[in-house]
Amino acid sequence: MLPCQRHLFEIPDDVAYLNCAYMSPLMKAATEAGICGLKRKARPWELTAPEFFTGAEEFRTIAAEFFGSTADCIAVVASAGYGLQTAARNLPVGKGQKILVLDEQFPSNYYPWQQLARKNGAALKMVRWPADNDWTAAVLDSLTSDVAVAALPNVQWTSGGRLDLVRIGEACRKLGAALALDLTQSLGVLPFDVAAVQPDFAVAATYKWLLGPYSLGVLYVAPKWHGGSPLEEGWIQRDNAQDFSSLVLYSDGYDTGARRFDMGERANFASVPVAVRAMQQILDWGIEEISATSAASNQYLAEATAELGFSAPNEPLRAPHYLCLRGAEPLTSELTFTLAREKVYVSVRGTSMRVTPHVYNTREDCDRLIGCLKRMAK
Ligand SMILES: Cc1ncc(COP(=O)(O)O)c(C=O)c1O
Repeated sequence: MLPCQRHLFEIPDDVAYLNCAYMSPLMKAATEAGICGLKRKARPWELTAPEFFTGAEEFRTIAAEFFGSTADCIAVVASAGYGLQTAARNLPVGKGQKILVLDEQFPSNYYPWQQLARKNGAALKMVRWPADNDWTAAVLDSLTSDVAVAALPNVQWTSGGRLDLVRIGEACRKLGAALALDLTQSLGVLPFDVAAVQPDFAVAATYKWLLGPYSLGVLYVAPKWHGGSPLEEGWIQRDNAQDFSSLVLYSDGYDTGARRFDMGERANFASVPVAVRAMQQILDWGIEEISATSAASNQYLAEATAELGFSAPNEPLRAPHYLCLRGAEPLTSELTFTLAREKVYVSVRGTSMRVTPHVYNTREDCDRLIGCLKRMAK
C-alpha cells in the first residue's frame, strides 16, 4: 500500500473526491507539463518537424508498459469509442454470427458493434446481469460457437464486477472468436498482460485511471491486425510523413506497426505530455500498489456502509478499486447532488452509488462520506 499522495494533486482539504471512475484529477506535475506543451503553440517558429513524431513515440513507449507490449503495437487515439470503432472496422463478423456484450455495457463499447451487426446481418448477444455477480462465469457460459467477437471490459462499469480476461481470452481462442476490450475502467489500476489475455484490440481513455487528459486514449492492436484499415486516412499515418516537403508525393504505404491507426493531429503538444507525465508517475508508484491502496479504502467503506444497509459483492467478484453500493431502495442521481453540497463526490450509475478512491484519498474522505450517509439515514 502507498502512503497518501494527495500532496501531488491540487485537491482542497475540504473536498472528498471519491470519483476517479468519472474523471481523475490531474497531478500538479502533469498540469505543468500540459502548460509547457500548450505554450509551445504560442511560439510555433520554435516547433521543429521531429516534434510531430517524438511526443507520440514517447507516449507509445510508456503506454506499452501498461499492456506488457511494445510501442509498435500502440496507436494514439482520441477516445475509447475511437479505438472500439477501429476494432469494429477490422474484425470480421458474418451473417448470422453473434457479437457478445455485457448487460449495461458502456455505450462506446456497444454502438460500434450494434452498427456492425446491423450492417452484416449479425446480432448482438447480451450477457445478462448474473444473479450471483459472477460476470466471468456468465461470459464463459455465453461463449458459444456462433460468437465471432467478444466485446468486453475488464470491469463492468455499473457494478464494479471484475472479469477474468485470461480465462475469457483462452475460451475465445478455443472458439476462434476475436476479443476486443475496453479497459477504460481498469488500465492503470489493474495489471494487464497482453501475453496472457491475447486480445485483438484493447483500448483505454486516459482521463480516468491513467490520470491523464480528456480526449486522448491508448489503443493496443495485436500484430495480426497491423495490416488493417484505419478510421482516418491522414498524412501523419503514412510512411512518407516525416519529410514535410514530399507529402504530396502521395504514398500507398503506412507507417509501421499500429501507427496507421493513430488519430489525425495526434501530435497534441498540450495533452500528450500530460498523459506521459501521469503514466510515468503511475509506473513509479506501481499498479499493484495503487490497486491495494484503493482496495483498502473500499474495504473500509464497504464495511462501514454495510451497517447502514448498503451492499456490494466482495472481491474477487468485484474489482478492488471499484465499489458499487446498492441500497435497500434503488438510488438516484439526487444522492450525488446532496453529497456534492457537502463537497463529497461520488457517482450514481445504474441504481448504485459508485465509489472509486485513488491514492490521493484519505481516511477522512471516507469518513466524510460515511458521515453524510449516516445523517441521510436518520
Ligand atoms: C467503461 C467506459 N468506457 C469508456 C468510457 C469513455 O468513453 P469515450 O472515451 O468513448 O468517451 C467510459 C466513461 O465513463 C467508461 O466508463
